[in-house]
Amino acid sequence: MLKNLQQQPADALLALIKLHNADPRVDKIDLGVGVYRTSDGATPVFKAIKAAEQKLLETQDSKAYLGPEGDMGFVHALIPYVFGKDFDRSKVEGMQAPGGTGAVRLAVEVAKRAGVKRILMGTPSWPNHAQIVAAVGLELVTFKHVTAEGTADLNALKTALAAAQPGDAVLLHGCCHNPTGVDYTKAQWDEIAALVTASGVLPILDLAYQGLGDGMEEDAYGLRKVLAEVPEALVAYSCDKNFGLYRDRVGAFYAVTSDATALANAMANGSTIARASWSMPPDHGAAAVRLILSDADLTALWLAELDEMRDRMAWVRERLSAAQQVGTVNMAPLGIQKGLFSMLPINGDQILAIREKHGVYMAGSGRINIAGLTNGNIDKFIAALGDVAA
Ligand code: LMR
Repeated sequence: MLKNLQQQPADALLALIKLHNADPRVDKIDLGVGVYRTSDGATPVFKAIKAAEQKLLETQDSKAYLGPEGDMGFVHALIPYVFGKDFDRSKVEGMQAPGGTGAVRLAVEVAKRAGVKRILMGTPSWPNHAQIVAAVGLELVTFKHVTAEGTADLNALKTALAAAQPGDAVLLHGCCHNPTGVDYTKAQWDEIAALVTASGVLPILDLAYQGLGDGMEEDAYGLRKVLAEVPEALVAYSCDKNFGLYRDRVGAFYAVTSDATALANAMANGSTIARASWSMPPDHGAAAVRLILSDADLTALWLAELDEMRDRMAWVRERLSAAQQVGTVNMAPLGIQKGLFSMLPINGDQILAIREKHGVYMAGSGRINIAGLTNGNIDKFIAALGDVAA
């Protein structure tokens, strides 16, 4: 039986981690998978998380099952941060999910059970989005996310929404677009909220990088704007980046609607999908987030750590954009892009050459994780880019 199985391609981004680890060069630069790095190139555990973990160690008296919805204290503690302090709580309910991936999977599966047949999505996008849509068995309809000028392409979204059919959903990145760093502006979000509402498509909002762009409140602008207008929506949320909990897999799936029965049914469907997939989400990281958000001092510490990350990324972006023109690459737009990622307009041969010749690891799409750049390696990176993109 098992001999019927076909070879599968390795996930390119995850394969890059292994390639980088196996490279013996001491001055190699990892701009691959999206993890934050300090100016020393480290990805330390947040101090707020360490403190919460200590508290957890001292106070947790059981590891008995919680249920497929996970830690509801965690799920509810996030609501004011994601949806805003004044959001009508009767319109939103959620459940914990294993990371942003688990949350997107729940959103797409629940959408399918609700009758969604096609997902409209701007491309390029996070490669796992398309994989999840395919795994769930929905059709993906793509449109362009970025204009030739490098801004977010509102017209392409408009055209896609104008051609939408009953049974369509649209998947939107809330902030810090992965992989381009090109976000919709506030004015564009204002239009998007009205356009999505008029089109009747179900919005699925993926917020995986809140706080890594302009700030926790600022990065929720688009999501909140859309939710203020549409009758219903699904939200996939990740704490993997903004709490630095990557391997602990901390996410949440929310449904938003003023129809109480539909809201309860969205959760009931999410729970049955979870039960048949992972049964219950891993507890540890979500419990740590709940402890942070229920303690004013720990919340302040966490927000200060997030500010520090954002400041460092702003410094990297400033340095990159100050290089202006590196070979054929115009670096100026990197200064206004948001979050961990930007995409360089270089081809596969150049991406391979910068890896082989200079030890610079980046995704095959040309995406770089800007947090991989530090005072110690940024000049080397710019020189290497200039060499391969001459
Ligand atoms: C990334 O895009 O690098 C991250 O979201 C990690 C992942 O799971 O792909």
